Parts: sequence; C-alpha cells; structure tokens
Amino acid sequence: MRDAETATVRLSEYTPPAYLIDEVALVISLEPEATLVAARSHVRRTGDTPAPLVLNGERLELQSIAIDGTLLTTDKYQLEPGKLIILDPPVQFRLDIVTRISPATNTHLEGLYMSAGRFCTQCEAEGFRAITYMLDRPDVLARYAVRIEADKAAYPTLLSNGNMTESGDMEGDRHFAVWVDPHPKPSYLFALCAGEYESIHDTFVTKSGRIVALGIYVDPGDSERARYAMDSLKRAMKWDEEAFQREYDLDLFNIVAVRDFNFGAMENKGLNIFNSSLILADAETATDADFEAIEAVVGHEYFHNWTGNRITCRDWFQLCLKEGLTVYREQEFSADQRSRPVQRIKDVKRLRARQFGEDAGPLAHPVRPSSYQKIDNFYTATVYEKGGEVIRMLKRLIGADAFARGMQLYFERRDGTASTVEDFIACFEEASGQDLSGFMNWYDQAGTPALTARGSYDDEARTYCLTVSQLTQPTPGQTEKNSLPIPLHIGLIATDGARLRTTVEGESAPREEHALVLSDARTTFNFANVEAPPIPAILRHFSAPVTLNDGLTIEQRLSQMAHDPDPFTRWEAGQSIARAIMLSGADMHASALAAALGRELDRAQEDPAFAALALRMPDLSELILAAPMPDPEALFGARETLRREVATELRARLEAIARAKGDASFSPDAGAAGLRALKSAALDLLASLGEEAGDVFEIAFATAANMTEAVAALEALGASGSPAFD
Ligand code: BES
Ligand code: ZN
Repeated sequence: MRDAETATVRLSEYTPPAYLIDEVALVISLEPEATLVAARSHVRRTGDTPAPLVLNGERLELQSIAIDGTLLTTDKYQLEPGKLIILDPPVQFRLDIVTRISPATNTHLEGLYMSAGRFCTQCEAEGFRAITYMLDRPDVLARYAVRIEADKAAYPTLLSNGNMTESGDMEGDRHFAVWVDPHPKPSYLFALCAGEYESIHDTFVTKSGRIVALGIYVDPGDSERARYAMDSLKRAMKWDEEAFQREYDLDLFNIVAVRDFNFGAMENKGLNIFNSSLILADAETATDADFEAIEAVVGHEYFHNWTGNRITCRDWFQLCLKEGLTVYREQEFSADQRSRPVQRIKDVKRLRARQFGEDAGPLAHPVRPSSYQKIDNFYTATVYEKGGEVIRMLKRLIGADAFARGMQLYFERRDGTASTVEDFIACFEEASGQDLSGFMNWYDQAGTPALTARGSYDDEARTYCLTVSQLTQPTPGQTEKNSLPIPLHIGLIATDGARLRTTVEGESAPREEHALVLSDARTTFNFANVEAPPIPAILRHFSAPVTLNDGLTIEQRLSQMAHDPDPFTRWEAGQSIARAIMLSGADMHASALAAALGRELDRAQEDPAFAALALRMPDLSELILAAPMPDPEALFGARETLRREVATELRARLEAIARAKGDASFSPDAGAAGLRALKSAALDLLASLGEEAGDVFEIAFATAANMTEAVAALEALGASGSPAFD
C-alpha cells in the first residue's frame, strides 16, 4: 500500500481547506473502457498567503489542465500518488481538467463502474477522486451541473443529482442529458447512473404543495417488485414532515437499484442508489423480514436528505453526526410504522449482537473515533448503532420538548454547512439550557458501561433505596474512563403486580415511572411512598446502551414478565429466565416460564409480533457468550430441553396458532406480518417436539400462501427431524 493510504489521520489535526470550490460543471462522455471527464471548477483560495492547490485523484489518466483557459505546462503542476498539485495558482480562477477513466475494468465498486452493463457510481467516502481530480473532502461544498453523453441505444436513461434541465440527441447515435443540482453538496454525494432500466413512477405532494416526481429504476422485468419500496418512500417522506417538519427540496427523487453494490444503499442527493436486494420484493420471493428491511433502508437513505446532505459532516470523524442520527430517525420511523416495543427489542438485540462485542474486543473505538488509517473501516456498529443510541439518550436526558426544539435549531442554524458533533450538541445545550459537556463523553469514550444495582426496602418508613454504580472497562488506547450521564427509566411494581406510584427527591408528584440520571460512579436513589416491597425495572425501554446486573431472583423476574407495564422489561425478564434455566439447569422454573409465556399468548392479539419475540428462546450464540465455560453441545441440548418443556405445556394453544390458515391475499403491512411472525414462532417452538408434533409442519408448508409462511414451515419441518423434510 502507498504511504498516502496508510498514514494516520487525526481529528486533532483537522485544518480547514486552503481552497474552496463553489461550482463544478462536469461533461462526462460515457464509454465503458474510455470515459472522458471534463471538469470545470471555480476555485478560490481561503487564506491570505499563496499556497499550492492539492487535489485528490486515484486511478485517473490526466489529459489536460488549464487555468482560466490557458493550458498548464508540466512545470506548473506535479502528479504524486493520490494527488495532483498545482504549484502556484492565482487567488481565484477557473480550472479545467480532463481525465480519462475505464468504468468497465473498475472492480473497486467505487468511483464510476459498471454493473450488468449499466454505469453507476459510489463516491462515499472517497470515491469521487476516482472520477476526476477534486478537493474530495466533505467540507468542500459545491453546486454541480452535469452533462452526461452516451450511446443512445445502449444507455437510454441518463441520471444524476438534482433536476434534469435539458436532454436531446447528438451526432453518431449518441444523446445527452443535463442535470443541475441547486443545493451545494460535498463530492461524496455525487451520483450518476446510465443504462437501460425499467421504472415505476409516482408523485408526492409536500406539505407546502411542492409536487415531487418519484422514480424507481430497476433491471428490465423487475419493476412490479419495486412497488413496496415506492410505498415505503412515500410513507418516509410524509413521516419526516410530521415527525421532524422536514420537507423534500427538489422536484425529483429517484432511486436506482443495482445488482453489484458494496453496501446496502447510498443517499446521493436526489438519486439514491440501492443494492437491488433492498428494493425488490413480492409475496413469492421475499419474507416479511425483507419487506421490513426495505422500509427501513428506503427510510434511512431518504432521511439523510436532511441529516447528512443538507447538513453534512465537516470531516469523516463526524460520521456519526449523519449516520447515528439517521439510524435513530430510521428506527423511530419503523417504530411508528410498526410496533414500537417490537422495534425497540429488535434494535436492542442487534446492538447487543453487533456492537457490544465490538466494544468489548480489540477493535473497540468511540462513536467518534479520534484517528483512522482508512475511513472505510469505520462504518461500524459503534458509529451506527451506538451512535443512534446516543441520540435517543440525549432525548431522554433533556426531554422530548427540548429535544424537538434542539433538532429544529440544528436544521435552521446548520443548514448548508459541514458540521461537527459539537455544533450539533450546542443546539441542544441552547434548547435545554443544560450543560452537556459530560454528555460528550458518550461520543469520545469507547466501551459499554456495566451497571450494578441493588436496592433495600424499609417496611416501616415505606422507602426504597436503590444504589446504582457504573464501570467502564479500559479499552485499547483508553485506559482511564470517565463516568457517563446514564438515563435510567425506573419503575417499581409489587410482587402481586401492582404498579407502585412513588416519589423521588426532585420530583413533584408520585409517578409509576421515573426518568432518572446516573451521573456519578455510584448514586443512591431514594423512593418514598413505596407501599409494598418493590421489584425494580431499572432500564425500562432499554433507556441506555449498558449492561445491567440487577440481582433479581427468578421469582421476581416472573412477576415482571407477568406484570411490568413495559414490554421491553417483560421480554428481557423472559429471556433472562430462559438463559438462567439453560445455563444453570434451574429447570424447576421451566413450567413457570411456560405459564408466563402462556399469558403473552393470551394477550397476543394486542401485539402478535411482540408475543412472537417473547416465544423465541435466546440463541445458541448468545448462550455461548454468556456461559463461563461454554460447551456448545450441552448448551444446545439444554436449549432444546427447555423448548420442549415450554412447547409441551403450551401445545394446544401453539397448535391452534400454527394450524390457523393465513390470509390468501398477501399484505406486507405490520398487522399481517405480526400474525405471520406469531405463527412462525409457534411452528418453531413446536418443532422441538420432533415427530410427536405430527403433521402440523407439512400442512403449514402445503398451505403456505407466501414466502414468509413457506420458509417458516420448512425450517420447522427441518428442525423437527421429520423425514418429510427430504
Ligand atoms: N452512507 C451509507 C452508505 C455507505 C456505507 C457509504 C459505507 C460508504 C461506506 C448509507 O447511508 C448507509 O448507512 N447504508 C447502510 C444501510 C443503513 C440502513 C444502515 C448500508 O449500506 O449498509
Ligand atoms: Zn446512512
């Protein structure tokens, strides 16, 4: 590897650009192996003293450079690996650079490349420099105008960012289109797609009456399978208006689905590019999980229009400013479209599975890292998932109203800028009147805080003292850890399930749930008016991304499962009991666990997707992580034993669910998907009974009316060991 690529980049060494480029006009003449890119930029120096102009460039064949119309001779510039250095440029000038590239042989899937005979781009994080020489950094914002030229028969559709202002035929079977994006943007949001597509179209009318033409472009033959993505897009546009007062800002919004794409999807201004697996779905070829992913990712990329595009990142250390915030927005969107508790539980499962391991291992890093060698390696679960949790905590710490005001302040004040996490947090300090300097530790400190909580009840005084402490283990390069402000949503119930209304110092009225903050290494919270010995739920809604040792007994957790008003707490209690039974053979509790799960089945019609999650025992991988001396075979056996016990006790009800015939007509919406999830969970649990379960799986498979049901039935049939599976 070249030095330019391995040198460490440090946040502390950020320097503003020596030059800015305000306008870029590109003429891109597409040919698979010899595409010509003519770039005309308006460049101006930012400082008072003369300085060379250093442009980024990779794998480019330079054809010519001119300043204000005069070609530069080779003594006026230097080509170095990854760089073009113009030695003595004027203060302000027009720069014309012509380069040649070969998209057909570009296998990096970065810059301009070809997928299935069509041209497409991927520029985040540093791919634009493989298209032309540029100040390829996110704090250089320019207005782009792009003229695309190509063979008309082979590439009938020519797309880029913004609005199309002109198109027409050229000599020699070629044609052109001109795209103008009025919004200044960093180079990483540039996009171009060209080729033969099939497309579907719709419109969205924004709340101020702007008519937006929506298009989704896919491989010929696939367009009917893009309907759900279009529906998701319209719901996302509406939701952003309602939840964040964010309106779309162009006349056009296009999505292109490509088969060869390194990531899930990319938020290029006005022209999102997706891996086709996250656009195409129908009842026969996609499961409910696929539909759910499409809705989430279409939402995510759309939401970047404000959090990422209108307000972008000053440098790549600020990646969480757009990604963490957009993950948070996407999760809120999904929660509003579907079941909020189910969404929360799925997000927590994902965080624990992907991010907690990262935080506990050799690659632990803060949500905002302080140095990197290659930014591509920093698109991590910590930046994304923990970055989303940090926003959710911010809302909990300052309250929903101050959070909403802070967001609006951020959108107003930072619009059109390349911002930092500090710029973002400053808006919430102002909106809430709180000092958030301690909160910044969540951005700069790696590791998952471990919480320990123990309480004691005073029968006579009717008080309850709950002492909670936090500890973050050292991580590579960060041995000293500060205490973090940790939002705790605490609720107390009595053993019989009564919700205790209690008072805590500082609160005016008694409440069933308290929003408290652990700021120090150790704090004692004093609850008064506690009418019965309480069972505390300390992390309702999973109010912070921490681990918790609360010392509750299995009996107390059973009460939580039965009575805690918070679905997350009920789910968590069930999972802990199941884990305890499987890890330590406490199987005298199996029957009580089955009874508690039975109660979830009784109220399953309220939220079938939640009941489905509750029925799923912790995965083997989770048990292996939790066991002090993991023996996978023994753990697998313990898991099957518990599943069998639960299935035996709930058999009649599980069978009734598993044998119920689903709707013949398929709807991907949350209600219908929730019912299918419950049926799948019932089949999965019944599979632990093996042959004893009889023909339930075969019948479920034979009568499956869609991919979700077919896959669930087939998996259960396989797991049951039935010979019919072959
Ligand atoms: N901006 C990213 C795409 C990206 C990722 C570009 C890595 C360059 C490097 C996009 O917004 C994104 O986050 N996509 C995710 C899906 C999302 C729903 C989490 C992806 O592609 O996995
Ligand atoms: Zn993103």
